[in-house]
Amino acid sequence: MPALPNKPYTLTRVLTLLIFIAFSLAHGATANKKHYIVYMGHHSHPNSESVIRANHEILASVTGSIVGAHDAALYHYSKTFQGFSARLTPEQAQQLAESDSVVSVFESKTNRLSTTHSWDFLGLDSIPQYNQMPMDSKSNVIVGVIDTGVWPESESFSDKGLGPVPEKFKGECVTGENFTLANCNRKIIGSRFYVQGFEVEKGPLESFAPLPFFRSARDSDGHGSHTGSTIAGSVVPNASFFGMARGTARGGAPSTRLAIYKACWFNLCSDADVLSAMDDAIYDGVDILSLSLGPDPPQPTYFENAISIGAFHAFHRGILVSASAGNSGFPSTACNVAPWILTVAASTLDREFHSNVYLGNSRILKGSSLNPLKMERSYGLIAASAAALPEVTAKNASFCKNNTLNASLIKGKIVVCTFETFTDNRRDKSIVVRQGGGVGMILVDPFLKDVGFQFVIPGTLIGQEEAQELQEYMTTETNPVAIISPTITFLKTKPAPEMAVFSSMGPNIITPDIIKPDVTGPGVNVLAAWSPAATAATAEMSVNYNIISGTSMSCPHVSAVAAILKSYQPSWSPAAIMSAIMTTATVLDNSRRTIGRDPNGTPTTPFDYGSGHINPAAAIDPGLVYDFDSHDIINFLCSTGASPLQLKNLTGSLVYCQKSPAPSYNFNYPSIGVSKMNGRVSVHRTVTYYGKGSTVYVANVDYPAGVNVTVAPSKLKFTKTGEKMSFRVDFAAFKNSNGSFVFGALTWSNGIQKVRSPIGLNVISV
Ligand SMILES: *[C@@H]1O[C@H](CO)[C@@H](O)[C@H](O)[C@H]1NC(C)=O
Ligand SMILES: *[C@@H]1O[C@H](CO)[C@@H](O)[C@H](O)[C@H]1NC(C)=O
Ligand SMILES: *[C@@H]1O[C@H](CO)[C@@H](O)[C@H](O)[C@H]1NC(C)=O
Ligand SMILES: *[C@@H]1O[C@H](CO)[C@@H](O)[C@H](O)[C@H]1NC(C)=O
Ligand SMILES: *[C@@H]1O[C@H](CO)[C@@H](O)[C@H](O)[C@H]1NC(C)=O
Ligand SMILES: *[C@@H]1O[C@H](CO)[C@@H](O)[C@H](O)[C@H]1NC(C)=O
Ligand SMILES: *[C@@H]1O[C@H](CO)[C@@H](O)[C@H](O)[C@H]1NC(C)=O
Ligand SMILES: *[C@@H]1O[C@H](CO)[C@@H](O)[C@H](O)[C@H]1NC(C)=O
Repeated sequence: MPALPNKPYTLTRVLTLLIFIAFSLAHGATANKKHYIVYMGHHSHPNSESVIRANHEILASVTGSIVGAHDAALYHYSKTFQGFSARLTPEQAQQLAESDSVVSVFESKTNRLSTTHSWDFLGLDSIPQYNQMPMDSKSNVIVGVIDTGVWPESESFSDKGLGPVPEKFKGECVTGENFTLANCNRKIIGSRFYVQGFEVEKGPLESFAPLPFFRSARDSDGHGSHTGSTIAGSVVPNASFFGMARGTARGGAPSTRLAIYKACWFNLCSDADVLSAMDDAIYDGVDILSLSLGPDPPQPTYFENAISIGAFHAFHRGILVSASAGNSGFPSTACNVAPWILTVAASTLDREFHSNVYLGNSRILKGSSLNPLKMERSYGLIAASAAALPEVTAKNASFCKNNTLNASLIKGKIVVCTFETFTDNRRDKSIVVRQGGGVGMILVDPFLKDVGFQFVIPGTLIGQEEAQELQEYMTTETNPVAIISPTITFLKTKPAPEMAVFSSMGPNIITPDIIKPDVTGPGVNVLAAWSPAATAATAEMSVNYNIISGTSMSCPHVSAVAAILKSYQPSWSPAAIMSAIMTTATVLDNSRRTIGRDPNGTPTTPFDYGSGHINPAAAIDPGLVYDFDSHDIINFLCSTGASPLQLKNLTGSLVYCQKSPAPSYNFNYPSIGVSKMNGRVSVHRTVTYYGKGSTVYVANVDYPAGVNVTVAPSKLKFTKTGEKMSFRVDFAAFKNSNGSFVFGALTWSNGIQKVRSPIGLNVISV
């Protein structure tokens, strides 16, 4: 689809330049043009030229000419759904929206990768519990990864031991800058890239210099190689980052194949590019789609949102979309919350990276970071607040931002900095200190101290208690000195997992009856493959493996588990796979207490982790499954009050709601939520048995505060696999929950499997 690949390097550059000129001219003439997605719904003529011709004709009706239509159009979505993207004035967009053949017109917005360059790190082994997973070396499961591309030479993408490319795969190896056909293999079975949306919305890639880029699926950012190898990386023994955290690196599902769709550039992903990638991936024949990206919160709607629309079509075709919940950290910020998307939160591993501070008085302060750098001797300490330039307040200087520190004061010193906001770029502070001649940085950062950072000079994060001790030492000692030690890795730390401080939380602000996120997985300090061209994030060192944090990192863990389930149960629907992953998740940490939230183990609810922390071994054999299909989704949306027009805006075809749709809480989701509960409510669910022989499951309820719960029937007897049974959960509230949710759980158990659904109720009246 992109016009630029398959061209020699220089020609690519010339074309780029031409596009750039054309684009500047057009820009001068009609400064109010924006990039819109024109969605035209369902259709069944994959890749047909006539569809593109028809798109141009419709577009010509508002631009005035076919030539104008060709100039305005960027993408044609023609494989799994129909539509196009184009640069239009708001008036033209409005005109198009009124056209009969157009379903909806909405602006192409920007998504972000669910990690940031400041959350960088240093390496270790992947997830130990996966090493016990049985593996089928002939696996034909394909995961599509929409991200920043891939570094194909990484050992993690070796195809050793894999069989031929699955026949069902219809994708391609699209070549481009530093990416040839030889860069695809039996592991990376396809690669495509999408750049038009990005360039029309953000400017030519060249304008981002000096950041490196490849006009191809080759990854210059590292993020895509990291997520891809987390899903399906081959087994690579003795992987480490400068010797730290040495171990065997491997993806969750090493026999899985990857189809790479590069739609993100410099951390940003245009909706139009992502939608084009989804259109292709669905057609290419992927089994699972992994999206470690999302819109900034709040996500206002399912109906005019590129990811929700693309994911709906994927779901309809039997493809599960697993997506990150986002890194916004606060209640009601979770993104990608449609019930047809598996929404993934992030939590810690049982591993810590300590880079401690040795004070001149022999005291040791616990610090955390991913610091491979060794300090050969001790250096003087100075508080950044005491090194303010004239006209800069001490407080402003303490944040170690650019042009606030007096270089002659910090030269040769370890500088003590603080953070201003949650989203401060921590790494940049170390650059500022180094620019002023500083040799080390201690960052007082009680919130993010468990998130591994990398700095360009020896640097570490300390908590509040350590900061107090440091301050006392610095005020009592005339010449305070310290050494920042290189990182030591600690394993089997407790408690773990804990919810990551940055992991976005529910409730789902669009439909609060659906508890979101759905699950949590490892997303703090995860080691995986990296692009050696991406040095900005790795303290300017070129590395093949890197440790980073984000819901970007937890999402591919869950995608990998989904791929494993798909290889065991090829006939399972996306909902069945979601259900298996959700109902087997655990809410207990390794101290047998409910998972807490970083940094201080504060109490959590299902709005932190949904059904809990993924448990891959249990997910393979869940016992019972809560299934649903796209008709059930339509019924659910009807029950939330969606109009036929809104439904059309999502599905692309005109569908009507039943006269009285079942209440939204009866949607057969694997968790139970009732967002407006008046006194009593009965919730219905149906489970499908996937076990051998006859068995009896018994209901067990963990009661939400102030609510009586009965389950009828309370026993479910199954005789053969595939059998379905329905049950009812009656809730009777005796206490108003006063605007907030109360939580519990329903667990069906036959003595072997435990099939758990969290319950979230907002009791408005009794
Ligand atoms: C559907 O999309 C059209 C065009 O973008 C928009 O004007 C309309 O408001 C949407 N309808 C609903 C019910 O959301
Ligand atoms: C990309 O290709 C160009 C031209 O062949 C070459 O000079 C350059 O070194 C390559 N870059 C990388 C990172 O491989
Ligand atoms: C692992 O790699 C390091 C070099 O990075 C090497 O010194 C060491 O011997 C290797 N260990 C094994 C077990 O291969
Ligand atoms: C301190 O920083 C804030 C935010 O950047 C700025 O608005 C303010 O003017 C600064 N104050 C001084 C005295 O530099
Ligand atoms: C700080 O500002 C100077 C110019 O004032 C600039 O050259 C330098 O790159 C900036 N450093 C950072 C880390 O932003
Ligand atoms: C920086 O601090 C030194 C030493 O206190 C002082 O002499 C100098 O004037 C300061 N520089 C600026 C730009 O304020
Ligand atoms: C809840 O259960 C208790 C004990 O069985 C009973 O006394 C009470 O009436 C019940 N409340 C409601 C609202 O059903
Ligand atoms: C209910 O919430 C309101 C406001 O949030 C608070 O003032 C009141 O104390 C709460 N009542 C109970 C019984 O918790």
